[in-house]
Amino acid sequence: MIYQVYVRSFLDSTGDGIGDLAGVRAGLPYLKKLGVDGIWLSPFYPSPQHDHGYDVADYRDVDPVFGDLGEFDLLMAAARRLGIKVLLDIVPNHCSSEHPWFREALDSAPGSPARARFHFADGRGPGGSEPPNNWHAMFGGPAWTRVADGQWYLHMFTPEQPDWNWRNPEIADEFDRVLRFWLDRGVDGFRIDVAAGLFKHPDLPDSDDPEADARTRDSVNPLAWNQPEVHEVWRRWRAICEEYGAQDGRERLLVGEVSVPTAREHALYVRPDELHQAFFFDLLGAAWDADAFRKVISEAMQDIAGTGSTVTWVLNNHDQVRTVTRYGEPTPEGSGLGTTRARAAALLMLALPGAAYIYQGEELGLPEVVDLPDDVLTDPIFRRTGSRARIRDGCRVPLPWSGQASPFGFTSGTEGAKPWLPQPEYFAEYATDRALADTRSFWHLYREGLHLRKTLPQLGEGPLDWLDTPPGVLAFVRGDGLVCAVNFGTAPTPAPVPGTPLLSSGPCPPGVLPGATAAWWLNDL
Ligand code: NOJ
Repeated sequence: MIYQVYVRSFLDSTGDGIGDLAGVRAGLPYLKKLGVDGIWLSPFYPSPQHDHGYDVADYRDVDPVFGDLGEFDLLMAAARRLGIKVLLDIVPNHCSSEHPWFREALDSAPGSPARARFHFADGRGPGGSEPPNNWHAMFGGPAWTRVADGQWYLHMFTPEQPDWNWRNPEIADEFDRVLRFWLDRGVDGFRIDVAAGLFKHPDLPDSDDPEADARTRDSVNPLAWNQPEVHEVWRRWRAICEEYGAQDGRERLLVGEVSVPTAREHALYVRPDELHQAFFFDLLGAAWDADAFRKVISEAMQDIAGTGSTVTWVLNNHDQVRTVTRYGEPTPEGSGLGTTRARAAALLMLALPGAAYIYQGEELGLPEVVDLPDDVLTDPIFRRTGSRARIRDGCRVPLPWSGQASPFGFTSGTEGAKPWLPQPEYFAEYATDRALADTRSFWHLYREGLHLRKTLPQLGEGPLDWLDTPPGVLAFVRGDGLVCAVNFGTAPTPAPVPGTPLLSSGPCPPGVLPGATAAWWLNDL
């Protein structure tokens, strides 16, 4: 179980209102208590922060906002002492327009080697005034921006994030060096941003549906994503990880952000010589509905686990509306029903074979902050589309740690320091100190679930067998007799196993599974 730390919103040690690496170090004992195996750190590299660090200007350093390399080393040492693995977020599809190689490309002539590291091309139409093809960027607007000499460059996200040209061998070599730089500093692996990206169709032809990515906010343009050549890169990175592992016996892990149309294609990314794990986002995408969940889980078991690979489950991350809000009524304070369902979904996820990732605040049952005023929004999607519809700031509001008023212990140091996004008053209810003190809290459910997941052999890798259940209810057996059942409906239903459950997401009397509740039983108890 890996815990995603969104560094700027985790814990601020300097009082500037932005979380930092020293804050992560200070929070490690909290994470140890929760029972995580490792953490994934969102990008902390030098960056103009047009997309909160997913626009990297230097892949081998720390942005002063987050600390420095010395602080990074202290964090690594502290994590090692506590037995917590550390994964970095690596962004190979694009860099920042402030990256020295992109600056050099801008200063160089069309056709120069410096431009060949990116996708520069002449435009179409009179005087080349129209983009080289009709693709749109995922965050809105055309995927091409024109530079002073009239050429255009490709960016699948914002203009401040030019895409690397992976058909140029210099890029692969440079990323090998970047991986080695961090592996030499002791990291345990990498979360790979946009891992189905990197290569585009070699001819960059027009698309039949150029706005599909922007409309779905997903990588669906078949000419821009999921090209077969990308698998060579994952083989190469895997070989580097194996090389380090062979030296010291410590496994290094690659987990990809892989969004592809089918579970079968997904499985190609986790072949034995490619990525160890890839997020299977279909669970996150499923509505609160028994049939939808069953379909997703069955497909993953058949098409991914069935090939001998691991399925990597995720319900929340820094790009998505939090489960508590997604499953409930979108009121500012969250919703009772959403919370009850999110607790059940958490227990369901923890009972599945494979890896599970949780996003900071998920363990507190934090709702999405849905009423942020426009003038505080920082998500480039809002800036580029003017739409609040699917902005990502609401799940990135700094964590509440203690106390009754903002900054809720998030930021220490100077008095009056404000968190970079405003925290609503109701965050007081979710503060970690309250969660730890209340054994009925979301936090204790996660902690207990994680503990059992580690200690019960039934919850390791292995088969999942569905049980017959009435409509609206799912139940499955794991290994030797662990039963997990979830009631997606609102009315109570008979429990599939007699007796008191080992763990349940809400009150669960023997023989009954109440609405919006999940429970685990050991059949031989
Ligand atoms: C996926 C990341 O999770 C998201 O936050 C980012 O905006 C895009 N990739 C572009 O790097």
